[in-house]
Amino acid sequence: MPSSHRSAFSLPDDLHYLNCAYMAPLPRRTEEAGIAGIRRKRNPALIGPEMFFEESDAVRAAFAQLLGSDEAERVALLPSVSYGVAAVARNARLEPGHEVLLTRDQFPGNVYGWMRAAGEAGARVRFVDPPRDPDRPGERGEGWNERILEAIGPRTRVVTLGHVHWTDGTLFALEAIGARASQVGALLVVDGTQSIGALPFDLAAIRPDAVICAAYKWLLGPYAQALAWMGPAFDDGVPLEETWIAREGSRDFGALVNYRDAYAPGAVRYDVGERSNFALLPMVLASLELVLRWTPECIAAHVAGISAPLLAWAREEGWGVEHDAWRAPHMFGLRLPPGVRPGPVQEALAARRVAVSVRGDALRVSPHLYNDEGDLEALRTALAAVV
Ligand SMILES: Cc1ncc(COP(=O)(O)O)c(C=O)c1O
Repeated sequence: MPSSHRSAFSLPDDLHYLNCAYMAPLPRRTEEAGIAGIRRKRNPALIGPEMFFEESDAVRAAFAQLLGSDEAERVALLPSVSYGVAAVARNARLEPGHEVLLTRDQFPGNVYGWMRAAGEAGARVRFVDPPRDPDRPGERGEGWNERILEAIGPRTRVVTLGHVHWTDGTLFALEAIGARASQVGALLVVDGTQSIGALPFDLAAIRPDAVICAAYKWLLGPYAQALAWMGPAFDDGVPLEETWIAREGSRDFGALVNYRDAYAPGAVRYDVGERSNFALLPMVLASLELVLRWTPECIAAHVAGISAPLLAWAREEGWGVEHDAWRAPHMFGLRLPPGVRPGPVQEALAARRVAVSVRGDALRVSPHLYNDEGDLEALRTALAAVV
């Protein structure tokens, strides 16, 4: 996949932006869709009742397609991951003695909602630690996955984690974890924010109960939008808000005061109020269409290809890099070699206009289609200057 995709974005020419896991740059098409969306409200006469539904439905269908599903109505339109987690946690039927299993140091957007729900139900949140064997720095992922499988037992009600760890791209074997969870009757809730869009997600094989995903990273979308796919376990749940638009029959604007008990089918009941955002939804749709056109498979292959020389160099120079089998292609952590402090590393990166994130004791590198070998070489040069 050629880096000519850079022209689909408006990144400054001299910036080596290797930080999609922080925030994706807005594609030009998405920006245009947003501007057109804002302009529509200049003349509300042009915003017909059908527009409250058609764009929402198109976004649902596109996200479902990305997961390999044709059940658009299973997709809910949300403002954030935290919002989706609160809705799912509220309907997870936690009881005293239940455990909610998470991986250590998970992003808080998928932690606090569980803490609240577990606390209220007399259940507990349990974090599974990675092994910390200094002799096997590149084999943390394998041991961590083993520990997760071992931790799932009769008390487990929910297992909730990412496909990758957000700090360093450690890969979690969701298929095996999901199979073990379903053996004990536990729900699998996936935070797809750091993977969906750049790492293929096989819904049919993983069989999660819910997948929640912010739009502003690997979906290349705007901030303040998130999407959730909800399985049958949540079909009869209670949403966080009682929106009128999620009730059956809401398309008939003349009959809205014929109040109905029934919700629209699937996950629509979990939509945020005023979900038909006329500026942000067209942006989400434009971005999803790009990701569907480029495909997660090709995006992953491109970033794996351009990162390979840097990873080989980093291993030789003593940077801690996870074994290839247990790290994602699209984002990876480089743990600092002994004696190297983060401060000088950050200065060297800033001097060469290289953008990555520091998370814990690792640099998190997360390239995309707009990057090429030159960006990774700039990173290598910066790192070589400090070891
Ligand atoms: C794994 C993960 N989940 C969720 C989020 C965002 O959560 P929220 O949408 O609640 O702000 C992030 C942001 O960095 C993240 O890395």
